[in-house]
Amino acid sequence: MRITVICENTVGRRIGLGEHGFSALIETDQGNYLFDTGSGHSVVKNSLELNKDLRTIKKIFLSHGHYDHTGGLPEVLKLRGKVDVHAHPHVFLDRVHVIEENEKETKRFVGLPYKRKYLESLGANFIFNKNFIEVEKGVFLTGEVPRKTSFEKPDPVLFAEIDGKINQDVFSDDQSLILDTNKGLILVLGCAHSGMINIINYVIHKTGKEKFYAILGGTHLDFLTPEQLEESVKALKKTKIEKIGVCHCTGMRAAFRLHQEFGDRFFYGSVGSILEI
Ligand SMILES: [Fe+2]
Ligand SMILES: [Fe+2]
Repeated sequence: MRITVICENTVGRRIGLGEHGFSALIETDQGNYLFDTGSGHSVVKNSLELNKDLRTIKKIFLSHGHYDHTGGLPEVLKLRGKVDVHAHPHVFLDRVHVIEENEKETKRFVGLPYKRKYLESLGANFIFNKNFIEVEKGVFLTGEVPRKTSFEKPDPVLFAEIDGKINQDVFSDDQSLILDTNKGLILVLGCAHSGMINIINYVIHKTGKEKFYAILGGTHLDFLTPEQLEESVKALKKTKIEKIGVCHCTGMRAAFRLHQEFGDRFFYGSVGSILEI
């Protein structure tokens, strides 16, 4: 099995294009899967440069409805044609990022930038899940993750509209992918808006397994206070993790902190990074 980072904020192997977003291609004996699609600028270009054929993908999984994980859907669908796209029903919520700059409030749309009908016309067959499910043999999606830790809080600048009301985005749709391998679980995160530790604890609870061969993807750790980050690091150190390949919304501060803690077991999951077992 091989997981290759196709889209990410940074370029690591002098190959491809960096963009704000995340996408990973998972190649297995039973088929290839695409987890997220980046924001749309690099998914096709990078897959070609990395010698990956997106026409081979069996299923697409969406971690949540942010543009930087879903914006590449049309480009992938134009190549692939009819394909199952697994996501939580809230993936289509209208979402905004609100920032205050120079005492002025700026709102930016950050939701999935395309209508469901348009994506379906390109071949997307949406299959929605809210619960933990096995989508293929040994391949699981978490569905909604219960928020249990006290230190993982929702990002205060992200909002969503539900039934005409704009509220802080609680990201019910945030889900992660799990591959059950003979070396342990591989957990692939989109943005970990549910909280990385909440996700890990839920995966342990649902699978009954606690050994992670690898954790890869966006952790959103940079949006926590230094104290919250330390709580997360403390919890990670108690978890059996062989390799940790963070990237995207992890941020440099948190990535450096994890490198310090995990040493050789740490890698940065930039474009072209490969995890092989
Ligand atoms: Fe993201
Ligand atoms: Fe996100």
